[in-house]
Amino acid sequence: MRQIVLEQPGTFAGRAAPEPEPTEEHAVVRVHRIGICGTDLHAFAGRQPFFSYPRVLGHELGVEVIEAPPNSRGIRAGDRCAVEPYVNCGTCHACLRGKPNCCERIQVMGVHRDGGMQDRFSVPVRLLHKSEKLTLDQLALVETLGIGAHAVERSGLNDEDEALIVGAGPIGLAVYMFAKTTGARIRVLDINETRRSFIEALGVETQSEPDGRLADVVFDATGNRTSMEKCFEFHAHGGRIVFVGLVQGSLTFDDPNFHRRETTLLASRNSCGDFPRIIRMIEEGEIDTSPWITHRMRLDEVPSRFEEVWSSPGLVKCVIETGASNG
Ligand SMILES: NC(=O)c1ccc[n+]([C@@H]2O[C@H](COP(=O)([O-])OP(=O)(O)OC[C@H]3O[C@@H](n4cnc5c(N)ncnc54)[C@H](O)[C@@H]3O)[C@@H](O)[C@H]2O)c1
Ligand SMILES: [Zn+2]
Ligand SMILES: [Zn+2]
Repeated sequence: MRQIVLEQPGTFAGRAAPEPEPTEEHAVVRVHRIGICGTDLHAFAGRQPFFSYPRVLGHELGVEVIEAPPNSRGIRAGDRCAVEPYVNCGTCHACLRGKPNCCERIQVMGVHRDGGMQDRFSVPVRLLHKSEKLTLDQLALVETLGIGAHAVERSGLNDEDEALIVGAGPIGLAVYMFAKTTGARIRVLDINETRRSFIEALGVETQSEPDGRLADVVFDATGNRTSMEKCFEFHAHGGRIVFVGLVQGSLTFDDPNFHRRETTLLASRNSCGDFPRIIRMIEEGEIDTSPWITHRMRLDEVPSRFEEVWSSPGLVKCVIETGASNG
């Protein structure tokens, strides 16, 4: 069986790996689609704070179950599923308080443990979410949407609020998708014109630089230090900032400004219990992610094409196809 491994920053290689085995809690799945995102790029560039090497990347997955142990979730061979890649411990403070997304010992597939850039692998059954309607592409995008769903949940955004989303990459788009369901007024700021035009096509107001208007809720989805620090100037008195993006290292802000505005500052990590709702929303046509996929490559092309695809103008989302089927 094939596996693509990131041996060290900058170097992917193909290798043969042993076949995975099912266990009492794990199903064996065939990987069909793997979305790639900023997290994978940071791992490739050696800038991701939570990484060690070698690592098999791949945390945005559309899979098909090959073999599953008996389970109460109705997961059987042949089911198509999205994979919730956050393997939590179940016993730490956060897990016991219902926040498995920020488990103290979290192991994210494709980040802290090997992920889906391989033909088959074994996945805890409890982390599989099936759909009879979604395509494999749609299943692979559920995880990205989950990041946005959780950020909006964290923000408490409502229809009286004005929101500013900074960064219109896939994560900013995911935030937008859920922000709009609250009825809030939304603006999006991005320095990249192509990214702005992509979201403008959805009828969203965009800006290329800050225009002095303040927002009740500012979401940072850039992962850019300067932008994250600027967020402290973009929100109204009494407002909230949600850091969805992250940087390696420290951020600074002016405390009198923070205090005067009684700012609420929130981090948003992963997603928490959102997969079934997101799958339902895509099934019912409330969210359409099909235009997001602007680039594709085959699994065996990853070592030679990863960098080229990442620097393509117009890239929103690249999805890897393993070639296991065309579904
Ligand atoms: N919260 C989580 O659990 C989670 C999960 C996945 C990714 N992330 C993080 O979210 C961030 C965004 O991810 P992505 O995949 O959308 O990245 P991306 O690089 O595709 O998009 C970032 C966007 O921000 C824009 N940008 C950069 N600097 C800017 C600035 N100063 N002002 C305005 N716009 C600016 C860029 O032009 C780009 O369009 C990254 O930091 C990523 O690591 C967080
Ligand atoms: Zn991702
Ligand atoms: Zn835990």
